[in-house]
Amino acid sequence: MAKSKSRLRCCVCVFALCFIAIIILLFIFLLRSPTCAEGQYSRGAVAADSQICSLFGRDILKEGGSAVDGAIAALLCTSLINPQSMGIGGGAIFTVFEKTGKVKVINARETVPNIFQADLMKDCPMGSPLITGSKWIAVPGEIRGYEKAHKMYGKLPWKRLFEPTIKLARDGFKVPQILSRYLQFPMIKGKVEGSSLCALFCDENNKTLKEGDTLRYEKLADTLEAIANSGPDAFYKGKLADDLITDVQNEGGTLSTADLESMQAEVSDAWTVQLGTYTMYLPQPPAGGTILSIILNIMKGYNLNPSSLEGDNKFLTYHRYIEALKFANGQKRKVWDPAVAERLIKDDFAAYVRSLISSNQTHPRQYYNVSISRDGVGTTHISVLAEDGTAVSVTSTINQLFGSMVYSPSTGVILNNELADFCGLVDSISTGEKPPSSMTPVVLYSKSEKKTLVIGGSGGFMITSSVAMAIMNHLWFGKDLKEAISAKVVTVNSTNGVNFEHMFDQTVIDKMKDMGHGVGTMKYALNVVNGIFKQDSCITAVSDARKNGEAAGY
Ligand SMILES: *[C@@H]1O[C@H](CO)[C@@H](O)[C@H](O)[C@H]1NC(C)=O
Ligand SMILES: *[C@@H]1O[C@H](CO)[C@@H](O)[C@H](O)[C@H]1NC(C)=O
Ligand SMILES: *[C@@H]1O[C@H](CO)[C@@H](O)[C@H](O)[C@H]1NC(C)=O
Ligand SMILES: *[C@@H]1O[C@H](CO)[C@@H](O)[C@H](O)[C@H]1NC(C)=O
Repeated sequence: MAKSKSRLRCCVCVFALCFIAIIILLFIFLLRSPTCAEGQYSRGAVAADSQICSLFGRDILKEGGSAVDGAIAALLCTSLINPQSMGIGGGAIFTVFEKTGKVKVINARETVPNIFQADLMKDCPMGSPLITGSKWIAVPGEIRGYEKAHKMYGKLPWKRLFEPTIKLARDGFKVPQILSRYLQFPMIKGKVEGSSLCALFCDENNKTLKEGDTLRYEKLADTLEAIANSGPDAFYKGKLADDLITDVQNEGGTLSTADLESMQAEVSDAWTVQLGTYTMYLPQPPAGGTILSIILNIMKGYNLNPSSLEGDNKFLTYHRYIEALKFANGQKRKVWDPAVAERLIKDDFAAYVRSLISSNQTHPRQYYNVSISRDGVGTTHISVLAEDGTAVSVTSTINQLFGSMVYSPSTGVILNNELADFCGLVDSISTGEKPPSSMTPVVLYSKSEKKTLVIGGSGGFMITSSVAMAIMNHLWFGKDLKEAISAKVVTVNSTNGVNFEHMFDQTVIDKMKDMGHGVGTMKYALNVVNGIFKQDSCITAVSDARKNGEAAGY
């Protein structure tokens, strides 16, 4: 009896101990990973255009890297995976959110070289989607941007950020679907096969590579190695710089070693715009943050909420949005002057525009002050959020697809055609100027709600409207970040044509036609938005499926 009693007591004891242990374990577990949903992360994340580059960035974060370290690693990787979009022959704009809540912009956009064709703006082909050739090359700023960002915010050694990409460049990899799609697209295929780029992207029969073919960047690997080992100056002076300039001049370009030597990235405080409880931090001109702000400021005055897209409300909401895009287009020639831009991001300008928006009709182009410009496409965007609370929103570009299509065989660098970004917006250009851009890497932060949204996009003229749509979807229409980014978009082009993404709600398209909008559909939606949202301590990272993107985190 006594024995079984003590056995019973023992059992109870063991149970009690187990129970306590389970409770403690559960508690520890809950503390460690707060109740984040499946697919969310609790420490850091990277949203780049491709899974491999998101992973490169994430691994750098895991090693203790800052958000800037992760961003640079992911950017370098992207220059191999999406070489049509960006590379070290281009430029970038970083918006960096510091732990303290201060936000800086690092502007490494390319500049107009010392020598350029005086009447270059007369040569702007307004109709053609591609502007190729050496006369459009601006002084590359990309590596100076990485240098500045790393000096200010880097934690890991500079060299470390290059290592994974150098290895990938040497080992080679299968041509991804997106790159292959461009290389096989008839108009681009012909241009690549007829240009110096063929050395990189053609097979032994001088035909562009297809999906699954192996792509290696041996020259670029050497160049990256030199920059990794000797520092950024290796790109801007000395042998590498001389070789690059010789190659460009062999193709008739005017870029000089003096241009490279004088290139510098600029640092400034981000501008801010208030959107509800969020402060949006944006890059000032020459970035496209002003256009994005104009659109969002106009729209915030309509007190939007999830019901704004329900039932018949959606017609008025989309109509107003399209009108806002037309008015934003109308500012395109003016916003490059920072003094003007500062006025245009104010609430009273948005209120003035709202007073001009009719709820029952649209107007001819002059009503919005729209003058014809060009619609380019290209670019990449990367969002990064690190465990230490830093965040980076960076957009990088060589401008249009494969930039100027000038390839430097001795350095492996693809040169930008950034001077084409002046087309339609200015009448003349001068040395040292940075061309206007649609790039709009932003960070939104709500202190009271403990929410952070790191977001930006690519797709040339579609950047501002696509990023605006994703932000509205998320902030006001109640969509989670994935839905906010994947939702079909509508955009307004430089001739005020309203173009809907394939599969956009047909009832809206019909209604917009009825209201007098000049409506079309886009064959290819080249808009791509990559974002990261953190609420309390749960992180959602989304790369746009339109470019087969995949984010990574931990
Ligand atoms: C490919 O182009 C290179 C450079 O123009 C040329 O030397 C080579 O003979 C070409 N190969 C074929 C198979 O046409
Ligand atoms: C829209 O409303 C305004 C003001 O109410 C009116 O003057 C105008 O005729 C209307 N336009 C259309 C197309 O119904
Ligand atoms: C359009 O231009 C006119 C004339 O310069 C100006 O009065 C008007 O305010 C402009 N509209 C907008 C929305 O900027
Ligand atoms: C703008 O879109 C409209 C409608 O699809 C189209 O007719 C027009 O050609 C486009 N303009 C440009 C410059 O692409």
